[in-house]
Amino acid sequence: MCGIVGYLGKPDRAYDVLIRGLKRLEYRGYDSAGVALVTDDGTLNVHKAQGKVSNLEQKASLGDTRGALGIAHTRWATHGEPNDINAHPHVSQSGDLALVHNGTIENYSVLKQALIEHGYEFKSETDTEVLVQLIDYIHRNNHCSLEEAVREALLQVEGAYAIAVVERGNPDRLVVARKSSPLVIGVGDGETFIASDGTPIVGYTDKVIYLKDNEMAVIERDKPLRIVAIDSNAPSEIDIQELKLSVAQLEKGGYDTFMLKEIFEQPETLRDCLRGRIASDGRVVLMGVEMNKDKFLNAKRITLVACGTSWHAALIGKRLLQDFCKIPVEVEYASEFRYGNPVLDDKDIVIAISQSGETADTLAAIQLARQKGAFVYGVSNVVGASIPRNTDSGTYIHVGPEIGVASTKAFTGQLTVLTLLALAIGQLRGAITKEQVKQVTDALKEIPETIEETLKVNDKVEDLSKIFTYAHNFLYLGRGYNYPTALEGALKLKEISYIHAEGYPAAEMKHGPIALIDAEMPSVIIAPSDSLYDKIISNVQQVKSRGGAVVAIVSKGNHSMEDIADHCIEIPAVPECLTPIIASIPLQLMAYYIAVNKGKNVDQPRNLAKSVTVE
Ligand code: F6R
Repeated sequence: MCGIVGYLGKPDRAYDVLIRGLKRLEYRGYDSAGVALVTDDGTLNVHKAQGKVSNLEQKASLGDTRGALGIAHTRWATHGEPNDINAHPHVSQSGDLALVHNGTIENYSVLKQALIEHGYEFKSETDTEVLVQLIDYIHRNNHCSLEEAVREALLQVEGAYAIAVVERGNPDRLVVARKSSPLVIGVGDGETFIASDGTPIVGYTDKVIYLKDNEMAVIERDKPLRIVAIDSNAPSEIDIQELKLSVAQLEKGGYDTFMLKEIFEQPETLRDCLRGRIASDGRVVLMGVEMNKDKFLNAKRITLVACGTSWHAALIGKRLLQDFCKIPVEVEYASEFRYGNPVLDDKDIVIAISQSGETADTLAAIQLARQKGAFVYGVSNVVGASIPRNTDSGTYIHVGPEIGVASTKAFTGQLTVLTLLALAIGQLRGAITKEQVKQVTDALKEIPETIEETLKVNDKVEDLSKIFTYAHNFLYLGRGYNYPTALEGALKLKEISYIHAEGYPAAEMKHGPIALIDAEMPSVIIAPSDSLYDKIISNVQQVKSRGGAVVAIVSKGNHSMEDIADHCIEIPAVPECLTPIIASIPLQLMAYYIAVNKGKNVDQPRNLAKSVTVE
């Protein structure tokens, strides 16, 4: 959460680079935004505004935006309400230092008290202001360089941070550091960029350095970049990598919203996800499994950890791994796992699923699992993010940047990779026959076309959405592989339309939620023609007999539901294990159109952020 950008380079270019960068990072938070610029004569100008980056732009354009050095921030509020005062950058009492921060300073109240005793006064309610005052205090009292003051201050800080600091009077230096929050440095020609991820940097340079945990960097005009370890001050190796992102990937490509674009690009993203992973004989080839055969052969249990939509993918992953690998599987919320004293040893495999690769709880869960000796495998989207860099091995879903805050294409990418992973492990352990693998991979190879076919439901779903836009509650029901699909459908609706929705295993409904059903509460029932179809029919009857409206997602050609449900949406028939990928498409569209009908901002729903880097 929160996005930071920084720039040191060409005359008066900082402001444009920073504003553009903030717009690309808005998915990380949009409660407020701010920018600090140092002009060539050393003046420090700070502009801040509550709300979106566009508000900041309007406000800042009335002031001084000159300078070749600057830092900027878009906020997802943790400490203190979203307003101008709590917006970053925060400036020290002396007016000398400005700082932006992504993360949480856990011991901020102790530090704040000590600083108050030294005569410091605070304007905001944020933990970040404490950090800039602490650096200022050390800088003045120890008469040391800014770099040394930052390092000293960070040694006193507990928590997570990615920070960037500039100093009044010095238009030639930018100091940055990170611990548990991401930071990327872009190395251009006579200019350097810093950002929470590669998106503000793409288009300027493709040379990047991923700052490692507990490292800080000093970026100075006409001097080589220096990276040191925060604790020892020892120089670190500078590892320049290629940024594999394009500007086109970050634009809406003719769609009204990123979410709709991302829903419609799923045929293409799953093509990318599958590329090179299925051999001509139908076998699955995943390098992460091939290179760690012993671990997968000797494993006695697999635990999947994730949050949110990725956790729903994990629930489906459990079914896939059980079915294809015949191995005990558990699924845990990362936030519960990390504090749940998990019993693990070197025969355990932990699979962490995360689109962003930066989710704080998932990152902490994998660090704990590795400490306990488990082999940790990552399933992530963002290349080079913290989770893939902190796992023993893994598989990228390769679905391209997901910018809409509600996850869509990442979910289907995660399900695709989990299917491949379960097949790869199953074939390695001899738990599944070649024919069984081929049956699934044949269908997987067709999945991009099957999704193209599925997307033809768009107009029907858009029409249906009009009937249900003003419902206050929804129930989503599914069984077996599609119980987690129901959870995901409900989450999509909740997060972008703010309608209360519950996902439930269809048969569990009669143990409580059935009491909620009346004519005002529609149910969306995921009922493809699978092994549990006959069972779910009776669950649909139970809803209908209480007067509830039913929208059923059924397999094409199955007309038996038409007499029972109020509305049927047909999806192509696929093997049972792949039905969640296909069934989630109409659910994404339904949530999308209901939110649009209600006039909601689907790409940036209230209170949410794309990358949850705080606990
Ligand atoms: C919902 C959504 C969130 C994320 C969750 C985990 O649409 O996007 O629930 O799935 O915050 O994020 P990642 O996958 O980045 O770890």
